[in-house]
Amino acid sequence: MRVDVVFGGASLGPGDVAGRVVAVIDVLRASTSIAVAMANGARAVIQLESPDEVVMRAKAFERSDVLLAGERKMRSIPGFDLGNSPRQFTREAVEGKTVLLTTTNGTPAITNTPGARDVVIASYVNFTAVLAMLRAALRGGEDVTVICAGRDRQFALEDAACAGRFVSLLSKDGSAVALNDAAHACALIDRKYGEELVHLFEASEHGRALREAGFGDDLPACAAVDSSPVIPLYQERQITKLGPDRER
Ligand code: MLT
Repeated sequence: MRVDVVFGGASLGPGDVAGRVVAVIDVLRASTSIAVAMANGARAVIQLESPDEVVMRAKAFERSDVLLAGERKMRSIPGFDLGNSPRQFTREAVEGKTVLLTTTNGTPAITNTPGARDVVIASYVNFTAVLAMLRAALRGGEDVTVICAGRDRQFALEDAACAGRFVSLLSKDGSAVALNDAAHACALIDRKYGEELVHLFEASEHGRALREAGFGDDLPACAAVDSSPVIPLYQERQITKLGPDRER
């Protein structure tokens, strides 16, 4: 079985995801916000390419059933209900609602997974829940691809470290797992930072940019390992939670 890591959705080829179980990571902040929204009872998250698409799609819903959410250049979009700060996706805000979300890197990376067997949204806040799903996939003979959404389709340190933690734990499981070079490199990055996640975020370009833009309090929220223990699955163009009422 294989665990491969790829960076930046743009460089993906069809063979990278087709038939595989895929985990998409955008730790700062889209995949964290999606996990928090699902853990706090959002009915679904629908990821869309642009603010205009969000506004158009909202017309298909009762206004009280839907939240318009997302960012451009990290900041909330004028007229939207929520930005992309995980601290905004509280139970009070999202329970029972469909969240229409557009972000710069995270939502396109989720959509760019043609032919994948399953697509799960991964971050530190739902790390162990997703790890269990990926372990089960490997045991069942599936190959895994971890997509790091990155920043402006480039490498991002925080996504690589989170991917590396998956790689390290999955490859410790006994059965031989083959890794690509990116997976090996990510495991080394995870080992370097260990549990110092806020330190990791502060070393990363995007973490520093968030702090400069006034979102410094999002960094500990994104570092809160296993605080939102859900498995958000992307299927039929929307993200819902794997659970008793949701089959794979
Ligand atoms: C993205 O999708 O690019 C982001 O999650 C950016 C952010 O809001 O921090």
